[in-house]
Amino acid sequence: MSASSNTGVSRLASPPAPGTSPFVNTLLGEERSASLHRALDGLDAQTLQWLSGYIAGLAARAPLSAPTAVPTPAPQAVPETVLTIVYGTQTGNSRLLAERLQRQAEASGLKTRLLRTGEYPVREIQKERLLYVVISTQGDGDPPDDARGFVDFISSKRAPRLEQLRFAVLGLGDTSYPKYCEVSRALDARLTELGAKRWVERADCDVDFEPVAAGWLDQAVAKAKEALVPQDTGSVVMLPRNSPAAAPAFGRDAPYTAEVLTNQRITGRGALKDVRHIELSLGDSGLSYEPGDSLGIWPENPPALVEAFLSELRLEGSAELTRDGRTLPLKQWLETELELTRLSRPFLERHATLSGNADLQAILAPGGGEKFRALLASHQIIDVLRAWPAAWNAQELVRALRRLTPRMYSIASSQKRVGAEAHLTVAECV
Ligand SMILES: Cc1cc2nc3c(=O)[nH]c(=O)nc-3n(C[C@H](O)[C@H](O)[C@H](O)COP(=O)(O)O)c2cc1C
Repeated sequence: MSASSNTGVSRLASPPAPGTSPFVNTLLGEERSASLHRALDGLDAQTLQWLSGYIAGLAARAPLSAPTAVPTPAPQAVPETVLTIVYGTQTGNSRLLAERLQRQAEASGLKTRLLRTGEYPVREIQKERLLYVVISTQGDGDPPDDARGFVDFISSKRAPRLEQLRFAVLGLGDTSYPKYCEVSRALDARLTELGAKRWVERADCDVDFEPVAAGWLDQAVAKAKEALVPQDTGSVVMLPRNSPAAAPAFGRDAPYTAEVLTNQRITGRGALKDVRHIELSLGDSGLSYEPGDSLGIWPENPPALVEAFLSELRLEGSAELTRDGRTLPLKQWLETELELTRLSRPFLERHATLSGNADLQAILAPGGGEKFRALLASHQIIDVLRAWPAAWNAQELVRALRRLTPRMYSIASSQKRVGAEAHLTVAECV
Protein backbone atom coordinates (compact mmCIF):
# COMPACT_ATOMS: atom_id res chain seq x y z
CA MET A 1 0.00 0.00 0.00
CA SER A 2 1.32 3.41 -0.92
CA ALA A 3 1.77 6.23 1.54
CA SER A 4 -1.05 8.28 0.02
CA SER A 5 -3.60 5.44 0.27
CA ASN A 6 -2.59 5.02 3.93
CA THR A 7 -3.42 8.67 4.53
CA GLY A 8 -6.81 8.18 2.92
CA VAL A 9 -7.61 5.24 5.18
CA SER A 10 -6.76 7.14 8.33
CA ARG A 11 -8.94 10.13 7.31
CA LEU A 12 -12.02 7.91 6.80
CA ALA A 13 -11.58 5.87 9.96
CA SER A 14 -14.31 6.30 12.64
CA PRO A 15 -13.47 8.25 15.79
CA PRO A 16 -13.19 6.07 18.88
CA ALA A 17 -16.52 5.23 20.47
CA PRO A 18 -17.13 7.63 23.40
CA GLY A 19 -16.95 4.91 25.98
CA THR A 20 -13.55 3.86 24.76
CA SER A 21 -12.00 7.31 24.50
CA PRO A 22 -9.80 8.11 27.51
CA PHE A 23 -10.44 11.83 26.90
CA VAL A 24 -14.26 11.44 27.13
CA ASN A 25 -13.88 9.18 30.15
CA THR A 26 -11.80 11.84 31.90
CA LEU A 27 -14.26 14.59 31.00
CA LEU A 28 -17.57 12.87 31.86
CA GLY A 29 -16.66 10.11 34.21
CA GLU A 30 -17.09 6.45 33.36
CA GLU A 31 -20.86 6.16 33.96
CA ARG A 32 -21.97 9.19 31.89
CA SER A 33 -19.54 8.26 29.20
CA ALA A 34 -21.08 4.77 28.95
CA SER A 35 -24.64 6.29 28.75
CA LEU A 36 -23.50 8.61 25.96
CA HIS A 37 -22.02 5.67 24.14
CA ARG A 38 -25.32 3.73 24.41
CA ALA A 39 -27.40 6.77 23.24
CA LEU A 40 -25.23 7.36 20.18
CA ASP A 41 -24.71 3.75 19.25
CA GLY A 42 -26.07 2.93 15.76
CA LEU A 43 -26.99 6.53 14.74
CA ASP A 44 -26.28 7.41 11.12
CA ALA A 45 -23.87 10.19 10.02
CA GLN A 46 -26.64 12.72 9.30
CA THR A 47 -28.18 12.34 12.78
CA LEU A 48 -24.76 12.59 14.41
CA GLN A 49 -24.07 15.84 12.51
CA TRP A 50 -27.47 17.26 13.56
CA LEU A 51 -26.72 16.28 17.17
CA SER A 52 -23.34 18.00 17.11
CA GLY A 53 -25.07 21.26 16.03
CA TYR A 54 -27.72 20.78 18.71
CA ILE A 55 -25.07 20.29 21.40
CA ALA A 56 -23.16 23.36 20.17
CA GLY A 57 -26.40 25.38 20.51
CA LEU A 58 -26.89 24.13 24.08
CA ALA A 59 -23.32 25.09 24.87
CA ALA A 60 -23.87 28.64 23.54
CA ARG A 61 -26.84 29.16 25.89
CA ALA A 62 -25.30 27.54 28.95
CA PRO A 63 -24.04 29.96 31.66
CA LEU A 64 -20.33 30.54 31.34
CA SER A 65 -18.70 28.57 34.10
CA ALA A 66 -15.11 27.79 34.75
CA PRO A 67 -14.11 25.27 32.13
CA THR A 68 -13.71 21.77 33.37
CA ALA A 69 -10.02 21.29 33.88
CA VAL A 70 -8.75 18.90 31.30
CA PRO A 71 -5.71 17.40 32.88
CA THR A 72 -2.63 18.00 30.76
CA PRO A 73 0.00 15.33 31.02
CA ALA A 74 2.50 16.18 33.78
CA PRO A 75 5.89 17.24 32.38
CA GLN A 76 8.03 14.19 32.00
CA ALA A 77 10.59 14.50 34.76
CA VAL A 78 14.12 13.45 34.04
CA PRO A 79 14.28 10.24 36.11
CA GLU A 80 15.22 10.88 39.71
CA THR A 81 18.02 8.43 39.27
CA VAL A 82 19.89 10.53 36.71
CA LEU A 83 22.57 13.14 37.30
CA THR A 84 22.63 15.65 34.45
CA ILE A 85 26.01 17.29 33.84
CA VAL A 86 26.11 20.34 31.60
CA TYR A 87 29.32 22.12 30.61
CA GLY A 88 30.04 25.49 29.03
CA THR A 89 33.51 25.83 27.60
CA GLN A 90 35.58 27.91 25.22
CA THR A 91 38.89 26.07 25.21
CA GLY A 92 37.92 22.65 26.54
CA ASN A 93 38.90 22.78 30.24
CA SER A 94 35.32 22.63 31.49
CA ARG A 95 34.61 19.77 29.13
CA LEU A 96 37.57 17.82 30.52
CA LEU A 97 36.31 18.29 34.06
CA ALA A 98 32.70 17.51 33.15
CA GLU A 99 33.81 14.28 31.46
CA ARG A 100 35.85 13.41 34.53
CA LEU A 101 32.85 14.08 36.73
CA GLN A 102 30.79 11.77 34.55
CA ARG A 103 33.40 9.00 34.73
CA GLN A 104 33.65 9.28 38.52
CA ALA A 105 29.88 9.33 38.96
CA GLU A 106 29.36 6.31 36.71
CA ALA A 107 32.15 4.46 38.53
CA SER A 108 30.12 5.05 41.71
CA GLY A 109 27.11 3.38 40.13
CA LEU A 110 25.21 6.56 39.21
CA LYS A 111 23.36 7.16 35.97
CA THR A 112 24.46 10.31 34.19
CA ARG A 113 23.89 12.27 31.05
CA LEU A 114 26.45 14.76 29.79
CA LEU A 115 25.61 17.67 27.50
CA ARG A 116 27.19 20.84 26.16
CA THR A 117 25.29 23.92 27.27
CA GLY A 118 24.53 24.58 23.60
CA GLU A 119 22.75 21.25 23.17
CA TYR A 120 20.88 21.36 26.49
CA PRO A 121 17.15 22.01 25.93
CA VAL A 122 16.85 24.83 28.47
CA ARG A 123 13.16 24.35 29.19
CA GLU A 124 13.99 20.85 30.39
CA ILE A 125 15.52 22.40 33.47
CA GLN A 126 12.12 22.50 35.16
CA LYS A 127 11.94 18.71 34.96
CA GLU A 128 15.49 18.22 36.16
CA ARG A 129 16.17 16.76 39.63
CA LEU A 130 19.93 16.93 39.96
CA LEU A 131 21.95 19.22 37.71
CA TYR A 132 25.68 19.91 37.88
CA VAL A 133 27.09 22.74 35.77
CA VAL A 134 30.78 23.14 34.93
CA ILE A 135 31.30 26.50 33.25
CA SER A 136 34.09 28.97 32.50
CA THR A 137 34.09 32.76 32.31
CA GLN A 138 35.27 34.42 29.11
CA GLY A 139 35.63 37.89 27.60
CA ASP A 140 35.06 40.47 30.29
CA GLY A 141 33.04 38.31 32.65
CA ASP A 142 30.96 36.69 29.87
CA PRO A 143 29.81 33.11 29.28
CA PRO A 144 31.55 30.94 26.67
CA ASP A 145 29.93 31.41 23.22
CA ASP A 146 28.22 28.04 23.41
CA ALA A 147 26.71 28.83 26.82
CA ARG A 148 25.14 32.19 26.03
CA GLY A 149 21.65 30.78 25.39
CA PHE A 150 21.77 28.67 28.55
CA VAL A 151 22.98 31.51 30.78
CA ASP A 152 20.67 34.09 29.18
CA PHE A 153 17.62 31.87 29.67
CA ILE A 154 18.37 31.17 33.33
CA SER A 155 19.10 34.86 33.98
CA SER A 156 15.92 35.99 32.20
CA LYS A 157 12.40 36.57 33.44
CA ARG A 158 11.30 33.55 31.40
CA ALA A 159 13.20 31.19 33.68
CA PRO A 160 10.74 28.99 35.63
CA ARG A 161 10.70 28.42 39.38
CA LEU A 162 13.02 25.53 40.17
CA GLU A 163 11.97 24.26 43.58
CA GLN A 164 12.32 20.64 42.41
CA LEU A 165 15.97 21.12 41.45
CA ARG A 166 19.15 20.31 43.31
CA PHE A 167 22.19 21.82 41.65
CA ALA A 168 25.91 22.47 41.90
CA VAL A 169 28.21 24.77 39.96
CA LEU A 170 31.94 24.43 39.31
CA GLY A 171 33.46 27.59 37.87
CA LEU A 172 36.60 28.01 35.80
CA GLY A 173 38.36 31.32 35.48
CA ASP A 174 41.58 33.20 35.87
CA THR A 175 42.51 35.43 38.81
CA SER A 176 44.34 37.73 36.41
CA TYR A 177 40.95 38.97 35.13
CA PRO A 178 39.06 41.61 37.09
CA LYS A 179 35.78 39.67 36.84
CA TYR A 180 37.06 36.40 38.22
CA CYS A 181 34.62 33.51 37.68
CA GLU A 182 31.79 35.99 37.17
CA VAL A 183 29.63 33.51 35.23
CA SER A 184 29.72 30.65 37.74
CA ARG A 185 29.15 33.06 40.61
CA ALA A 186 26.12 34.67 38.96
CA LEU A 187 24.67 31.33 37.80
CA ASP A 188 24.97 29.85 41.27
CA ALA A 189 23.22 32.88 42.79
CA ARG A 190 20.47 32.92 40.15
CA LEU A 191 19.61 29.23 40.53
CA THR A 192 19.21 29.77 44.26
CA GLU A 193 17.02 32.79 43.56
CA LEU A 194 14.79 30.59 41.39
CA GLY A 195 14.21 28.29 44.34
CA ALA A 196 16.69 25.53 43.46
CA LYS A 197 18.61 23.90 46.29
CA ARG A 198 22.39 24.28 46.25
CA TRP A 199 23.46 20.68 46.71
CA VAL A 200 27.23 21.28 46.74
CA GLU A 201 28.95 24.58 47.55
CA ARG A 202 30.26 26.28 44.43
CA ALA A 203 34.01 26.13 43.79
CA ASP A 204 35.85 28.52 41.50
CA CYS A 205 39.08 27.34 39.90
CA ASP A 206 41.99 29.45 38.74
CA VAL A 207 43.87 28.42 35.56
CA ASP A 208 45.69 25.74 37.52
CA PHE A 209 42.32 24.16 38.19
CA GLU A 210 43.45 20.72 39.32
CA PRO A 211 43.78 21.17 43.11
CA VAL A 212 40.39 22.83 43.59
CA ALA A 213 38.59 20.81 40.92
CA ALA A 214 39.78 17.41 42.20
CA GLY A 215 38.36 18.04 45.68
CA TRP A 216 35.11 19.43 44.28
CA LEU A 217 34.56 16.47 41.95
CA ASP A 218 34.99 13.99 44.82
CA GLN A 219 32.57 15.92 46.99
CA ALA A 220 30.08 16.39 44.15
CA VAL A 221 29.97 12.65 43.41
CA ALA A 222 29.55 11.77 47.10
CA LYS A 223 26.64 14.22 47.35
CA ALA A 224 25.08 12.93 44.13
CA LYS A 225 25.03 9.47 45.66
CA GLU A 226 23.05 10.87 48.58
CA ALA A 227 20.52 12.38 46.20
CA LEU A 228 20.17 9.53 43.74
CA VAL A 229 19.68 5.84 44.04
CA PRO A 230 22.79 4.19 42.59
CA GLN A 231 21.78 2.09 39.59
CA ASP A 232 23.18 -0.84 37.76
CA THR A 233 24.97 1.08 35.00
CA GLY A 234 24.19 -1.71 32.55
CA SER A 235 20.45 -0.90 32.34
CA VAL A 236 18.79 1.38 29.81
CA VAL A 237 18.50 5.09 30.48
CA MET A 238 18.00 8.19 28.33
CA LEU A 239 21.58 9.18 27.70
CA PRO A 240 22.68 11.25 24.72
CA ARG A 241 25.94 9.35 24.77
CA ASN A 242 25.99 5.63 25.31
CA SER A 243 28.82 5.52 27.76
CA PRO A 244 31.13 8.02 29.40
CA ALA A 245 34.14 8.90 27.30
CA ALA A 246 37.13 6.81 28.32
CA ALA A 247 40.04 8.83 29.68
CA PRO A 248 42.31 9.55 26.70
CA ALA A 249 45.91 8.31 26.83
CA PHE A 250 47.25 11.81 26.09
CA GLY A 251 45.75 15.08 27.16
CA ARG A 252 46.21 18.06 29.42
CA ASP A 253 47.77 16.10 32.26
CA ALA A 254 49.66 13.65 30.07
CA PRO A 255 50.96 15.88 27.27
CA TYR A 256 52.17 14.43 24.02
CA THR A 257 55.55 15.58 22.68
CA ALA A 258 54.72 16.57 19.12
CA GLU A 259 57.29 17.01 16.39
CA VAL A 260 57.21 20.37 14.58
CA LEU A 261 56.89 19.48 10.89
CA THR A 262 56.72 23.02 9.52
CA ASN A 263 57.35 26.46 10.99
CA GLN A 264 56.89 28.91 8.17
CA ARG A 265 56.60 32.69 8.27
CA ILE A 266 53.58 33.73 6.22
CA THR A 267 53.89 37.51 6.47
CA GLY A 268 56.12 39.35 4.00
CA ARG A 269 59.67 40.43 4.91
CA GLY A 270 58.71 44.07 5.41
CA ALA A 271 55.61 43.27 7.51
CA LEU A 272 55.64 44.43 11.12
CA LYS A 273 53.94 41.27 12.39
CA ASP A 274 55.62 37.88 12.37
CA VAL A 275 52.76 35.44 11.69
CA ARG A 276 53.61 31.76 11.29
CA HIS A 277 52.04 28.63 9.90
CA ILE A 278 52.98 25.75 12.20
CA GLU A 279 52.36 22.08 11.44
CA LEU A 280 52.59 19.57 14.29
CA SER A 281 52.66 15.80 13.97
CA LEU A 282 50.20 13.97 16.23
CA GLY A 283 52.02 10.73 15.36
CA ASP A 284 50.44 7.67 16.94
CA SER A 285 49.11 9.64 19.93
CA GLY A 286 45.52 8.86 18.96
CA LEU A 287 44.67 12.53 19.62
CA SER A 288 41.70 13.69 17.59
CA TYR A 289 39.97 17.02 17.14
CA GLU A 290 36.90 18.64 15.60
CA PRO A 291 36.63 21.92 13.71
CA GLY A 292 36.65 24.73 16.27
CA ASP A 293 38.71 22.80 18.85
CA SER A 294 41.77 24.32 20.48
CA LEU A 295 45.18 22.79 20.99
CA GLY A 296 46.97 23.34 24.29
CA ILE A 297 50.74 23.84 24.20
CA TRP A 298 52.73 23.60 27.42
CA PRO A 299 55.18 26.51 27.34
CA GLU A 300 58.55 27.00 29.04
CA ASN A 301 59.74 30.35 30.33
CA PRO A 302 62.65 32.02 28.52
CA PRO A 303 66.00 31.62 30.39
CA ALA A 304 66.52 35.41 30.34
CA LEU A 305 63.26 35.94 32.26
CA VAL A 306 64.23 33.28 34.82
CA GLU A 307 67.60 35.02 35.32
CA ALA A 308 65.82 38.36 35.75
CA PHE A 309 63.64 36.89 38.54
CA LEU A 310 66.62 35.38 40.34
CA SER A 311 68.69 38.55 40.21
CA GLU A 312 65.81 40.91 41.07
CA LEU A 313 64.89 38.83 44.12
CA ARG A 314 68.51 37.92 44.95
CA LEU A 315 67.69 34.21 45.14
CA GLU A 316 69.81 31.13 44.40
CA GLY A 317 68.61 29.04 41.45
CA SER A 318 70.01 25.86 43.01
CA ALA A 319 67.89 26.02 46.20
CA GLU A 320 65.76 22.86 46.50
CA LEU A 321 62.10 23.67 47.09
CA THR A 322 58.93 21.65 47.56
CA ARG A 323 55.41 22.21 46.29
CA ASP A 324 52.55 19.71 45.99
CA GLY A 325 54.87 16.91 47.09
CA ARG A 326 57.50 17.60 44.40
CA THR A 327 60.99 18.89 45.15
CA LEU A 328 62.93 20.73 42.42
CA PRO A 329 65.65 23.39 42.23
CA LEU A 330 64.23 26.93 42.16
CA LYS A 331 65.62 27.49 38.65
CA GLN A 332 63.65 24.53 37.33
CA TRP A 333 60.48 25.63 39.09
CA LEU A 334 60.84 28.97 37.33
CA GLU A 335 61.75 27.54 33.93
CA THR A 336 59.16 24.83 33.45
CA GLU A 337 56.59 24.84 36.25
CA LEU A 338 55.48 28.33 37.23
CA GLU A 339 53.77 31.24 35.48
CA LEU A 340 56.19 34.18 35.31
CA THR A 341 54.26 36.61 33.14
CA ARG A 342 50.57 37.17 33.94
CA LEU A 343 49.71 38.81 37.23
CA SER A 344 47.01 37.46 39.49
CA ARG A 345 45.21 39.11 42.38
CA PRO A 346 46.38 36.62 45.07
CA PHE A 347 50.04 37.12 44.05
CA LEU A 348 49.66 40.90 43.99
CA GLU A 349 48.02 40.91 47.41
CA ARG A 350 50.90 38.96 48.91
CA HIS A 351 53.42 41.17 47.14
CA ALA A 352 51.71 44.32 48.41
CA THR A 353 51.96 43.01 51.98
CA LEU A 354 55.64 42.07 51.61
CA SER A 355 56.56 45.37 49.97
CA GLY A 356 54.51 47.40 52.44
CA ASN A 357 53.86 49.84 49.59
CA ALA A 358 50.81 52.03 50.21
CA ASP A 359 50.24 52.84 46.49
CA LEU A 360 50.08 49.18 45.57
CA GLN A 361 47.79 48.45 48.51
CA ALA A 362 45.46 51.26 47.37
CA ILE A 363 45.25 49.76 43.86
CA LEU A 364 44.15 46.45 45.37
CA ALA A 365 41.65 47.98 47.80
CA PRO A 366 37.93 47.49 46.94
CA GLY A 367 37.61 50.99 45.40
CA GLY A 368 40.69 50.58 43.16
CA GLY A 369 38.89 48.70 40.34
CA GLU A 370 40.00 50.78 37.34
CA LYS A 371 43.59 51.13 38.53
CA PHE A 372 43.72 47.40 39.21
CA ARG A 373 42.44 46.72 35.69
CA ALA A 374 45.07 49.09 34.24
CA LEU A 375 47.84 47.43 36.25
CA LEU A 376 46.87 43.96 34.99
CA ALA A 377 46.83 45.21 31.41
CA SER A 378 50.17 47.03 31.54
CA HIS A 379 52.41 45.04 33.90
CA GLN A 380 53.88 41.57 34.01
CA ILE A 381 55.16 40.03 37.24
CA ILE A 382 58.76 41.13 36.64
CA ASP A 383 57.58 44.75 36.20
CA VAL A 384 55.86 44.62 39.59
CA LEU A 385 58.97 43.12 41.25
CA ARG A 386 60.99 46.01 39.86
CA ALA A 387 58.49 48.79 40.56
CA TRP A 388 57.70 47.79 44.16
CA PRO A 389 60.63 45.76 45.54
CA ALA A 390 59.78 43.18 48.19
CA ALA A 391 61.73 40.55 50.13
CA TRP A 392 60.37 37.20 48.94
CA ASN A 393 61.90 34.03 50.28
CA ALA A 394 62.32 31.26 47.72
CA GLN A 395 59.89 28.77 49.26
CA GLU A 396 57.12 31.32 49.58
CA LEU A 397 57.66 32.49 46.01
CA VAL A 398 57.31 28.95 44.67
CA ARG A 399 54.04 28.55 46.57
CA ALA A 400 52.65 31.97 45.54
CA LEU A 401 53.26 31.84 41.79
CA ARG A 402 50.59 30.07 39.76
CA ARG A 403 51.32 26.85 37.91
CA LEU A 404 52.12 27.19 34.23
CA THR A 405 49.14 26.13 32.16
CA PRO A 406 48.88 25.22 28.48
CA ARG A 407 48.52 28.09 26.02
CA MET A 408 45.46 27.48 23.90
CA TYR A 409 45.54 27.92 20.10
CA SER A 410 42.61 27.50 17.70
CA ILE A 411 43.35 24.65 15.32
CA ALA A 412 43.43 25.87 11.73
CA SER A 413 43.19 22.48 9.99
CA SER A 414 40.63 19.76 9.45
CA GLN A 415 41.65 16.29 10.53
CA LYS A 416 39.75 14.87 7.58
CA ARG A 417 42.28 16.59 5.32
CA VAL A 418 45.52 16.44 7.29
CA GLY A 419 45.15 13.16 9.21
CA ALA A 420 47.42 12.86 12.25
CA GLU A 421 48.54 16.49 12.14
CA ALA A 422 47.37 19.76 13.63
CA HIS A 423 48.06 23.10 11.95
CA LEU A 424 48.15 26.42 13.76
CA THR A 425 48.45 30.04 12.74
CA VAL A 426 50.45 31.87 15.38
CA ALA A 427 51.38 35.54 15.66
CA GLU A 428 54.43 36.51 17.65
CA CYS A 429 53.62 38.99 20.42
CA VAL A 430 56.33 41.47 21.34
C1 LIG B 1 39.90 35.83 26.06
C2 LIG B 1 39.73 35.29 27.45
C3 LIG B 1 38.96 35.98 28.36
C4 LIG B 1 38.81 35.50 29.67
N1 LIG B 1 38.07 36.22 30.57
C5 LIG B 1 37.95 35.80 31.84
C6 LIG B 1 37.22 36.56 32.80
O1 LIG B 1 36.66 37.62 32.53
N2 LIG B 1 37.14 36.07 34.06
C7 LIG B 1 37.74 34.90 34.44
O2 LIG B 1 37.65 34.53 35.59
N3 LIG B 1 38.45 34.15 33.54
C8 LIG B 1 38.57 34.57 32.26
N4 LIG B 1 39.28 33.82 31.34
C9 LIG B 1 39.96 32.59 31.77
C10 LIG B 1 39.20 31.29 31.45
O3 LIG B 1 37.98 31.24 32.12
C11 LIG B 1 40.07 30.11 31.89
O4 LIG B 1 41.19 30.04 31.04
C12 LIG B 1 39.32 28.80 31.89
O5 LIG B 1 40.16 27.77 32.39
C13 LIG B 1 38.85 28.42 30.51
O6 LIG B 1 38.03 27.29 30.61
P1 LIG B 1 37.35 26.64 29.31
O7 LIG B 1 38.49 26.02 28.54
O8 LIG B 1 36.42 25.62 29.83
O9 LIG B 1 36.68 27.72 28.55
C14 LIG B 1 39.43 34.29 30.05
C15 LIG B 1 40.19 33.58 29.11
C16 LIG B 1 40.34 34.06 27.82
C17 LIG B 1 41.16 33.28 26.84
